[in-house]
Amino acid sequence: MSTAMGYLELAERIAREAGEMLLAKRPARPEVLATKSSPTDVVTALDRASEELIRARIKEARPDDAVLGEEGGATGDGRVRWIVDPIDGTVNFLYGLPEWAVSIAVEVEGEVVAGVVNVVPRGEVFTAVRGGGAWLGGERLRCNTGVPLEQALIATGFGYGPGRRAVQAEVLAQVVPRVRDIRRGGSAASDLCAVAAGRVDGYYERGPQYWDYAAGGLVATEAGARVGGLNGRPAGPDLTVCAAPGLFEELHDLLVPLDPERDA
Ligand code: IPD
Repeated sequence: MSTAMGYLELAERIAREAGEMLLAKRPARPEVLATKSSPTDVVTALDRASEELIRARIKEARPDDAVLGEEGGATGDGRVRWIVDPIDGTVNFLYGLPEWAVSIAVEVEGEVVAGVVNVVPRGEVFTAVRGGGAWLGGERLRCNTGVPLEQALIATGFGYGPGRRAVQAEVLAQVVPRVRDIRRGGSAASDLCAVAAGRVDGYYERGPQYWDYAAGGLVATEAGARVGGLNGRPAGPDLTVCAAPGLFEELHDLLVPLDPERDA
């Protein structure tokens, strides 16, 4: 079990099991256990339970692998590393909105080779293997191509800190008049899969963490999208931009002079 497809099969099985557990155990109004970077950055008991389940399953199948998880941090130091967001879109989960996902990516020697994003309330499981395409069930995904910026539907997200949000709002005010419209779904992993599936044309966000975009980024890349940061840098917490080649550059060039990273 050492091919990218083998990793994907295991990741998908685990992401489905975590999704089933979350659906079965989610109370009408999940309780906030703790807050993280700000009072609105919440953790529920089920974020932790989901990550514990995922870590336990990885350990059973692959005891030597490393794991980086949103709730439990970094453990182990194997050449294979699992990047885990046990619930991406925790605020949606809290409110019962149908846009949250279990996201699991598998890295081999620093490169993501497999990714699964289980958008649990919608029953949609997006998968990708490096070089093997992006899939939703039996359907191969292709992002929209040839869309000019002014016709593009663009997804974005906001951080949890007030200072960052103020800058994000200023940037957004300059982006909205230049595009078809904006969507804020509340899960970066799901947003990237939406680019892959052609449900939006592009995505940008300042602040997503690796566990938010590792799996969804591979799904989008394998669907033909370009995923990166500003000025040739890789995608990352500074800024992540995703769109088909052509639109990527237009969106990138719109963002650069707006200096979206200036809250750093
Ligand atoms: C958040 C979501 C949201 C994005 C935030 C992320 P979380 O992840 O992906 O869409 O805008 O930047 O932190 O906190 O729900 O795992």
